[in-house]
Amino acid sequence: MTAAPLQGRVALVTGGAAGIGLALASGLARRGAAVVLADLQGAEGAAAGLRGEGLAAQGVTGDVTSEAAVGAMVAAAEAHFGGLDILVNNAGIYATLTPKPFEELDLAEWRRVLEVNVIGTFLCCRGVLPAMRRRGGGRIVNISSGVAFKGNPYMAHYVASKGAVVSLTRALATEMGRDAVLVNSVAPGFTLSANVLNNPTLIAGVKEPSLRNRVIGRDMVPDDLVGAVCFFAGPDAAFITGQTLVVDGGAYF
Ligand code: NAI
Repeated sequence: MTAAPLQGRVALVTGGAAGIGLALASGLARRGAAVVLADLQGAEGAAAGLRGEGLAAQGVTGDVTSEAAVGAMVAAAEAHFGGLDILVNNAGIYATLTPKPFEELDLAEWRRVLEVNVIGTFLCCRGVLPAMRRRGGGRIVNISSGVAFKGNPYMAHYVASKGAVVSLTRALATEMGRDAVLVNSVAPGFTLSANVLNNPTLIAGVKEPSLRNRVIGRDMVPDDLVGAVCFFAGPDAAFITGQTLVVDGGAYF
């Protein structure tokens, strides 16, 4: 790997204010990309932190379920850094969820989880395509979840949404190859992101069993996902599209 394989590239990372998104944005920037961090809760503070380390970063406040807000994210990338090459669809609802038995999940919760995790991913994918075509191609990395393959109790809406992300990845890849836009996905295992650490129900119910059922015997942290995402975003993945890579330390349940 060259020292800066993403030099000259511009990346948009949704949900970039904290947790996994911020770790991914930081990893992309350390490999040479200029990054736009977009988040519902505002990402300018996180971007300023990266700039303080000498990295190229800009924060945008926006909701991935709003077409107008997604348009503003893309416009920010083009205005600040001259284009857009990489989209990381990381914004999602997970760490703030309260696990519930299937029959207690109500319609409003289902709609909200699917709206952010699936429709938000759709809108961002669709929203970046014109900008990527202007650059002659691009990379989309969708963040799914290992539970899309294994299932998980008490989060059926979330599991279904992340399964949809895997299928969307394959579907979009089949259409975008001719435009040199490659679409792949990374499916993390249980990761101690900032928001997960703030959710006592998840920590109490998932942390210990995840560790017990993992080949690599330590907790998973956001930085464990950086290599896979940067691989899909970079030159070594130039002939790979439609794939999902599970990154979970070898979970076997
Ligand atoms: P998280 O799931 O709580 O949130 C990620 C970020 O997305 C937050 O900063 C939040 O403000 C932002 N966000 C939420 N709704 C948004 C919207 N409508 N528009 C813009 N931004 C929005 O935190 P975490 O754990 O960092 O997860 C990141 C991604 O990784 C999510 O897609 C999650 O589903 C996925 N994931 C997380 C795992 C974990 O164990 N932490 C495991 C597998 C996947």
